[in-house]
Amino acid sequence: MFRYDIKKVTSETELNNALAFAKSVFKDSGNLDRPTFFSKFWLERMPANNDFMLYAQHGEEIAGVVFGYVESNDSINLSTVAATERYRNQGIASSLLKELEKRAAAKGHHLITVEAMEAAEGFYLKCGYVPHLLVQAKPPLTLEKLRSLNDRYEEAWTYDDGKDIKLCLNTRGIDKELQHKYDNTFPECLTQTLFTKQV
Ligand SMILES: CC(C)(COP(=O)(O)OP(=O)(O)OC[C@H]1O[C@@H](n2cnc3c(N)ncnc32)[C@H](O)[C@@H]1OP(=O)(O)O)[C@@H](O)C(=O)NCCC(=O)NCCS
Repeated sequence: MFRYDIKKVTSETELNNALAFAKSVFKDSGNLDRPTFFSKFWLERMPANNDFMLYAQHGEEIAGVVFGYVESNDSINLSTVAATERYRNQGIASSLLKELEKRAAAKGHHLITVEAMEAAEGFYLKCGYVPHLLVQAKPPLTLEKLRSLNDRYEEAWTYDDGKDIKLCLNTRGIDKELQHKYDNTFPECLTQTLFTKQV
């Protein structure tokens, strides 16, 4: 049986090792310039969030990482979820996620959210997460224009501060047809599945 210990990050060295691992998993994603790949982001948050900065230790190596941080009183945003390629489908990421969910609930954070990469959507469904379609755009696109393509779903929430516009639809399932309609009609917008789970 594949054995590993679930640990939480307690030092800058552990943080740097976990981030180096995450970067190695996401090296081809084109996203490595995101703040969440840098230790500065996490060092500021560590005191309040290290219950949600977990990794799987397998012998001398890290085999998986799940990092989240408190976004509002109620919710935790998952920023980094990764497992070593050769050890996948053995329950590492889902075990880390379960542990994070347990710790979140114990601290009174009852909503977990994650903006998923397309290849990981099936993983979040397996872990009991509920999918929403999230459409993000900037002016000159408007919320009204984004709304005009949706005649099926309730809006979970919207955001518009004049610079960033977001429309989140309660699709309940994954609706690729509607997602592609947004991609084709408004190629400048970003569409992805936002998963949530009540814990
Ligand atoms: C997605 C990822 C974290 C899953 O890690 P993992 O340790 O292999 O996941 P688990 O073994 O805990 O999987 C739990 C269940 O989800 C399934 N699953 C895992 N990855 C899946 C995927 N990409 N698509 C569909 N199902 C998946 C597993 O088969 C397992 O199913 P089971 O309960 O029926 O056995 C891993 O594939 C990964 O690191 N991918 C690259 C980075 C990435 O995309 N991260 C997510 C960013 S949002």
